[in-house]
Amino acid sequence: MYAQMVKSTGKGVILREEMSPEERAFQDRIDAGEKIEPKDWMPAGYRKTLIRQIGQHAHSEIVGQLPEGNWITRAPTLERKAILLAKVQDEAGHGLYLYCAAETLGISRDEMTEMLLDGRMKYSSIFNYPTLTWADMGAVGWLVDGAAIMNQVPLQRTSFGPYARAMIRICKEESFHQRQGFDIMMTMARGTDAQRAMAQDALNRFWYPSLMMFGPSDKDSVHSAQSMAWRIKMNTNDELRQKFVDQTVPQAEYLGLTVPDDSLSWNEDKGGYDFAEPDWDEFFEVISGNGPCNADRLAARTKAWDDGAWVREGLLAHAEKKRARERAAQ
Ligand code: 3HC
Repeated sequence: MYAQMVKSTGKGVILREEMSPEERAFQDRIDAGEKIEPKDWMPAGYRKTLIRQIGQHAHSEIVGQLPEGNWITRAPTLERKAILLAKVQDEAGHGLYLYCAAETLGISRDEMTEMLLDGRMKYSSIFNYPTLTWADMGAVGWLVDGAAIMNQVPLQRTSFGPYARAMIRICKEESFHQRQGFDIMMTMARGTDAQRAMAQDALNRFWYPSLMMFGPSDKDSVHSAQSMAWRIKMNTNDELRQKFVDQTVPQAEYLGLTVPDDSLSWNEDKGGYDFAEPDWDEFFEVISGNGPCNADRLAARTKAWDDGAWVREGLLAHAEKKRARERAAQ
């Protein structure tokens, strides 16, 4: 079904005069702030964009468990271990809410997983970077979950009902994740010289990849214009990146850490920081499958999918048997 849908609309926006009467009525509902529900009529491009974005978001939550899951057995205290375990389990839950929201659009979780594994769907660039030290658990919570919240709070008002409702609970849990990351950073920044150096090293490695999470700069964003017209996205990539920098720089200062950007300066006129853009060539390499951990992440997902085959087959056989029993009883 997904493959038969129209091609995405590219950089532009569908003009009102190009819309069919159904499309115009649909756009009026969006403009009036109404929520669109799964059984409502919707343009094929709207459905396709949502499946792409929600599916990619769901995959990100699931793949995002890998870099942190890597540290559960090595957490420095029992308390830190329990917190990290809870966080990683939350991410699994987020993936499941989001797969369910995407399924209401007529695609199955199995189809989305197959599309992830064969490269037709993506997951967030950030999870292709390794977590090398315990301080990375702090940096991931503080910066990565911090960037995720910045992007996801506005999505609570997105036009598609199931996505907006899923985001409400996800955002509450992401706030706890960000707080626990900041708490790890604070503990390390107030610790020994070696611990402070680890915290600074984690900030150095995760700063630019976190800025990349918001997507390419607005001039290179393919989907933003149409997605914003449909209220699938509420802000541009650059708007959210700027808000993230403005919020995070004072937090780094509070920690006594240095953001790895010599050009960082407060711009009184715009009321925000001027900062260096990430290396966009690196970003496009990473989302094309050539980042430091892409192969490992996909290998882990493929293994989990293959290892779970017997469960899926068993469940299908059970459902088939139940249907046969019901047919026989009629
Ligand atoms: N990683 C991977 N691919 C990315 C990306 C990123 N950080 N940012 C953009 N892209 C891709 C897009 O998917 C698109 O490629 P495609 O056409 O093949 O799908 C291309 O780059 C061009 O980007 P656009 O700006 O045109 O794409 P979007 O309009 O979709 O904007 C987005 C990108 C801002 C990430 C948007 O999709 C979005 O808001 N998504 C929902 C939030 C989300 O997915 N968050 C995942 C973060 S991780 C997370 O939440 C886990 C938590 O535990 C931390």
